[in-house]
Amino acid sequence: MPETIIAGNWKMNTTLDEAQALVRAMKPGLEEIKGLRKVVCPPFVSLSAVSSLLKGSTIEVGAQNMHSEKSGAFTGEVSSAMLSGLCKYVILGHSERRHIFGEADDLVGRKVRAAMSAGLSPILCVGEQLAEREQGRAEAVVERQLRAGLDGITTPRGLIVAYEPVWAIGTGKAATPQDAQQMMSHIRRVLATLQGQAVAANTSLLYGGSVNADNVAAFVREPDVNGALVGGASLKADVFVQLARNAATART
Ligand code: 13P
Repeated sequence: MPETIIAGNWKMNTTLDEAQALVRAMKPGLEEIKGLRKVVCPPFVSLSAVSSLLKGSTIEVGAQNMHSEKSGAFTGEVSSAMLSGLCKYVILGHSERRHIFGEADDLVGRKVRAAMSAGLSPILCVGEQLAEREQGRAEAVVERQLRAGLDGITTPRGLIVAYEPVWAIGTGKAATPQDAQQMMSHIRRVLATLQGQAVAANTSLLYGGSVNADNVAAFVREPDVNGALVGGASLKADVFVQLARNAATART
């Protein structure tokens, strides 16, 4: 069975002080929640401080991106080697990276391979844009992103997939749980052809896009939705704790 995971992607929000305050505020509430993995993904500059604050707790830490090379002349970039001592997860191929920063499918694949070789658990994000959905191409786009994202990988250790339809991100217009479920079962089918049944059956699939404390339960009640990747609602401690609590209750 895939584990249930609630992950907060803080995106480009919080100064160092704010990140520390936010994690201090959510820590006691999150610690009480059992039966799911709880992950926070602060900006790079706060990773070290947040990881220290969460040492020994049940709350885990992820980064939001990384470069595909281990080291070198890549001014401003951060590598898997730099992250592997600081956090366990790394979000890769987020739609903001793909569409604002022009990251192509094959680059995302190189990053996934680099993350896995460094022992990081990649949260590979896939998802179609509105026009692609309207043209009936949503499943084909997600399949293309998955194939490229997992190209060359034989043992997808630690893989997590997040389905985040671009039109649902930050818009307050979430997909319906049924739409999410339909795409998740497609993702599991594609994973089965690429990586085999066991991987497909055991990989946690997260839905992302306008998830909040009120709608999270309906998503995680769907059989193939194993949690959520949360943006805006992960930036307020009480809201994120309530969201995680509601997800845990819905799964039991
Ligand atoms: P929102 O929850 O703000 O829609 O963002 C979703 C997201 O992009 C998480 O990675």
